Amino acid sequence: MTVPRILITAGPTHEAIDSVRFIGNRSSGRMGVALARAAAERGWAVTLLLGPATVDPAEAGPGVRVERFVSCADLQGLLTALWPSGAEVLVMAAAVADYRPVRAAKAGTKLRRSGERLVLELESTPDLVEECCRRKPSGSLVVGFALEPATGLREAAIRKLTRKGLDGIVANPLETMDSATAEGELIWGDGSSERLGGGGGATSKVEFARALMERIAGRLAG
Ligand code: CTP
Repeated sequence: MTVPRILITAGPTHEAIDSVRFIGNRSSGRMGVALARAAAERGWAVTLLLGPATVDPAEAGPGVRVERFVSCADLQGLLTALWPSGAEVLVMAAAVADYRPVRAAKAGTKLRRSGERLVLELESTPDLVEECCRRKPSGSLVVGFALEPATGLREAAIRKLTRKGLDGIVANPLETMDSATAEGELIWGDGSSERLGGGGGATSKVEFARALMERIAGRLAG
């Protein structure tokens, strides 16, 4: 049997305002690195696309190919090059900005204080995982993440699963962001679902990632 190839995206994006400022978010990238490690432990060929995160990509272990991105546009370029030609599974754990400045100040310059109000005009970014689902060959799998307030989490995750055309989605409560532990519910497009982590004690992101990879492996085999 051929070794499955998996593409994992992780970490935040930084959307430039000028040469020194950006719009970002608190994603640490730890979940994505744990996912890369868990997939590599299974013997899979792993490519990790990692944003400007605080986590050390070496934690994914040896043998994981790492490509870095900064902005949503960079990640879009990498996904265009690598999906679906480079993998059968895509796990989209990156916290991609929903909005970016319409114009960043010219490279090498920075905005100056003027005492006046400053209005930043933002445009919405493309939905990268939705684009990937549109060009998904049959037999491959795309799994996304939904980070939402605990109230209404499940319903919001199911709406995203349907709207984006995902095979599965991990519904995570907001508190998971930037934390060492994880809990969530894995929901598949066929309506089946399962809680991963949480329960009695805290589940590390590495344990959570192993459980998720086991479920993905099961889907690939089925
Ligand atoms: N995502 C993406 N491209 C974007 C925004 C999000 O591919 N521009 C992906 C994320 O990587 C994640 C999934 O979509 O796998 C859900 O992200 P989330 O931010 O929770 O959803 P949004 O599409 O931003 O929807 P909303 O604004 O309603 O939360």
